[in-house]
Amino acid sequence: MFITFEGIDGCGKSTQADLLVRRLKKETFGTRPILWTREPGGWEGGAWIRERILKDRFLHPMSELFLFLVDRCEHVRREILPVLENGGIVVCERYTDSTLAYQSWGRGIQPERIESLFEWCAFPQPDLTFWLDLPVKEAMERVASRGGRDRFESEGYAFLEKVRTGFSSLAAREPERILRAEASEEAQALSSKLFSLLEVSRSR
Ligand code: TYD
Repeated sequence: MFITFEGIDGCGKSTQADLLVRRLKKETFGTRPILWTREPGGWEGGAWIRERILKDRFLHPMSELFLFLVDRCEHVRREILPVLENGGIVVCERYTDSTLAYQSWGRGIQPERIESLFEWCAFPQPDLTFWLDLPVKEAMERVASRGGRDRFESEGYAFLEKVRTGFSSLAAREPERILRAEASEEAQALSSKLFSLLEVSRSR
């Protein structure tokens, strides 16, 4: 089972991924390998790419796109596929939907072009994606309160609005896979809701 978390910066993906992984570990009694990972940077060597992408303000949008794809090619082959092929569960913060939302809706690269690169790279499709939706203003306040602003957060309000519209369009296009959840809800309550959604999706 391959589960991804998506949403704009500051929507609480890490907290929710953490809670979900704990719950899955408890429910499976350690019988299945569980990998909790993230993009960019979820593999050995990914830290370099992550630094470049997040810190270099002068990257061309195509260079940015290709760096994310390089990161994903390695991440998929070294980390994600071995766990899935071994019958395990992968929980990944950000994946292909982030690339479409940020590099297509955000930066303006044609989505068909990006999707054809996904196909070419043979990225496995997630079974389920939780889109944690939060108004941009609220997300920016959360990010400011934790003190950090990276390259994407510094793009400001208008950029993140476009990205949020991207996630919304993707969810409308694939309602079975991408489930929207209100990210402003209290963390434990939200986590229980997500777990129920996961159970429903598994039983289908
Ligand atoms: P990160 O610090 O991991 O942000 P967050 O904690 O919100 O996930 O930074 C990753 C940034 O990279 C984030 O702003 C989203 C962006 N991104 C893309 O633009 N395209 C992608 O394909 C991915 C995976 C991330």
